[in-house]
Amino acid sequence: MKEYSLAIVGATGLVGRTILEVLEEKKLPISKYTLFASSKSAGKIMHFMDSDYVVKELNENSFDEGFDFAIFSAGGDTSKKYAPIAASKGTIVIDNSSAFRMDSNVPLVVPEVNPEEIENNKGIIANPNCSTIQALVALKPLDTAYTIKRIVYSTYQAVSGAGNKGVADLDNGIFNYSNKCCDYALQKFPYPIFNNCLPHIDVFLDNGYSKEEEKMINETRKILKKPDLKITATTVRVPVFNSHSEAINVEFEKDFKIEELRDLLIHSSGITVIDDPSNNKYPLCKDATGSDNVYVGRIRRDYSVDSGINLWVVADNLRKGAASNAIQILEKMII
Ligand code: A2P
Repeated sequence: MKEYSLAIVGATGLVGRTILEVLEEKKLPISKYTLFASSKSAGKIMHFMDSDYVVKELNENSFDEGFDFAIFSAGGDTSKKYAPIAASKGTIVIDNSSAFRMDSNVPLVVPEVNPEEIENNKGIIANPNCSTIQALVALKPLDTAYTIKRIVYSTYQAVSGAGNKGVADLDNGIFNYSNKCCDYALQKFPYPIFNNCLPHIDVFLDNGYSKEEEKMINETRKILKKPDLKITATTVRVPVFNSHSEAINVEFEKDFKIEELRDLLIHSSGITVIDDPSNNKYPLCKDATGSDNVYVGRIRRDYSVDSGINLWVVADNLRKGAASNAIQILEKMII
């Protein structure tokens, strides 16, 4: 069996470190790993796969040696600059940033939803936004069966989605509160995230939506190949360390039986249904954290429309929302 080489760009970040964790769990036919980050981390030692790896600074020549694959998780600006360089040297890039997601030449892939798109790549494959990935794992089987007419997304997103600095803001807020002391400078958010919910993820656009909301809307339309699908979204950062939760309201063209719909979700790939409200059983962040599945519960009819439902959908945003989704794309290409 062929052995591949893989570059991990942004290896020191939260998603990068989760990529290393997931790679350690999977036994992929990769014989050579190279870890890249910014100049700040150059020379840093990271222990991975029972070996010590020296982190290299990313630069224009980093891809001269011709890796088979690269996974980028170092922000949009880094991807915009370096992913095309990597692709031009024959490396297939799986990019976690939003830089290329809406590019019509770049497939936007959730392996449970549209794996067939992978082969249309021209050197770059985009990983969708974390909130989009978990929503679509849950919605795709329902769209196939009942044809989605409209979606309303409301998200409750963990601070790990904002990287190391987002986690530091919550950590510092908790420490400050517990010790009743210690002023601290916010590193990521415009307000303290501890004891707060911030209806503000990414920048605000002229139309009043945040960029995160726009990403969920546009990426859903692209992946489902429904450019005119009616979708609206409110995305909120909450003081949770890891795993995003979403309340999703969906209206269908066709009617359904709620037991059949629940059964469909139970038997769909990548989904774990926890839906027993009478025993206080529903998906929680603690269930999803560490897992690659999307957890679905609170499955109930929306009685305000002819054919609609409400769902509560929870997933590990660092794993299924980023690292694991990217590695599942990689697996489809090499196994
Ligand atoms: P570094 O740790 O050297 O700054 P997070 O989103 O968790 O904060 O992580 C961001 C990741 O992206 C880190 O690994 C960071 O490296 C990396 N990164 C940021 N800017 C660059 C850059 N210009 N070139 C390469 N890696 C970068």
